[in-house]
Amino acid sequence: MTEQADTDRLDLWLDGALAGTLQRARGEVTFTYAASYQALRSAPSLSVSIPRQTTTHGPEAVEPWIDNLLPDSDTVRSRWAAQFGERRPTAFNLLRHMGADCAGAVQILPHGDIPADGSGHRPLSEVEIAEHLRELRRDDASWAFARHGGRFSLGGQQGKFALARGADGAWHQPTGRGASTHIVKIGIGGLPRSDAAELVTMRVARRLGLTVAGVEALWFEDQPAVVVERFDRLAEPGGAVRRLHQEDLCQALGLWRTAKYEADGGPGVGDLAALITRAASRHDLAGAREAFARAVAFHWVTAGTDAHAKNYALLHVGSRTALAPHYDLMSAALVLPAREVWHTGRLAMRLGGEYRLRGIAARHLDRAAHELGVEPTWFRHVAREQAAAFPDAVSDVVAQERRLVDGPTAQAFTDGARRRATEALRVLDDATAPATIPPEPSAIWVPAHTRDGRTVDGHWRRRPGTPRATVHP
Ligand SMILES: Nc1ncnc2c1ncn2[C@@H]1O[C@H](COP(=O)(O)OP(=O)(O)OP(=O)(O)O)[C@@H](O)[C@H]1O
Ligand SMILES: [Mg+2]
Repeated sequence: MTEQADTDRLDLWLDGALAGTLQRARGEVTFTYAASYQALRSAPSLSVSIPRQTTTHGPEAVEPWIDNLLPDSDTVRSRWAAQFGERRPTAFNLLRHMGADCAGAVQILPHGDIPADGSGHRPLSEVEIAEHLRELRRDDASWAFARHGGRFSLGGQQGKFALARGADGAWHQPTGRGASTHIVKIGIGGLPRSDAAELVTMRVARRLGLTVAGVEALWFEDQPAVVVERFDRLAEPGGAVRRLHQEDLCQALGLWRTAKYEADGGPGVGDLAALITRAASRHDLAGAREAFARAVAFHWVTAGTDAHAKNYALLHVGSRTALAPHYDLMSAALVLPAREVWHTGRLAMRLGGEYRLRGIAARHLDRAAHELGVEPTWFRHVAREQAAAFPDAVSDVVAQERRLVDGPTAQAFTDGARRRATEALRVLDDATAPATIPPEPSAIWVPAHTRDGRTVDGHWRRRPGTPRATVHP
């Protein structure tokens, strides 16, 4: 093997097993499963879009998949390329340096390297973590611990870094080989209180029946941070940390990160529901479908306007696949003025054909239920319960988080939740809303009424100007 050839090969490990090799040739990257990995009786594929029954996968599947392991921010990518002396910030070039601790069970290493056990961590003092948080607040592209060489890669736009917490509670920097266990976030630059809103929304979601990653607000010196527990890590007795495999729903569909929003040509609710139905294992299917439907309802109820395809994931453990716990949740109703939420709020995915919060009526929920493969009456019931519980859940959670959520913020969050819940309940309680699914997206529901002394039942009517043939009885 020549030196040159080695720079074009990276090994990909899944939970400590060599899963295969990434090979670059003429600028294109392919992936070939190791025969030993294919022979394992119960082990996950790298992706739904890269099944292990097929040995070699081409660039159309592999390139978007590995690209999705990296930060969404091009600034962070360019920074990493400069830091490692790479001329071009391609996924292959960057993962050679930062791929040893990725989302899921993935470790990408130079060909021939062996991943060490978790012993490679460097202890971090509170002073060092606080300093890194200050740096990230000054410049939200400074994800990496530049001076100490911490290695991890995660998706997303927001400033963040990964840390490992020992069984004794002490923090360590993942040097690459050992697994990080937590993700430290500071909120969205330019959107004040978004860190608090994320913490509160995650906590509220759990109260409202969603399965959500653990999250807490921590202080390092004077620096607050939202610290999320990784659901793709498993602490074993004795202190070792195992990696569980996950992939986001863009990865599972073989899509680039640029297609994470439906409005940019990405997947919608129906596409994701179909993916979940296709990918979830038999025992996990009902739970996954219900969990996804509850999340879709939650995002509508709370104005969770950033719930795109990379903010959902599949968890692959052994040969089972389920919907991963929810992460990266934020209700816009907490941080934006109520009028703005109502007038300009748009969901990341259409609900029953409609992005605009103010355009969503009960019939859109019914249509969404249809796409989700759940009963419309159940879906409405879930949304109604969530809307009824949302304001009190917010006021309870903010009361528990008084250090991060100060008095005026607590008041603003509670007021915002109440207003949004009122809007959602108004839609749900609209007595004229039909319980059936419209025959076509533009059909109009005519509520029951009396005419010339006779009762006319509620019925669908063709929107004026649409050809008669498109309306079914
Ligand atoms: N609790 C968690 N456990 C495991 N992986 C997680 C967890 N939270 C986030 N991730 C991974 O890290 C990625 C980035 O995290 P997250 O979505 O919270 O960041 P973000 O920058 O706010 O994203 P966005 O650009 O969508 O706003 C996720 O896409 C997911 O792969
Ligand atoms: Mg995200």
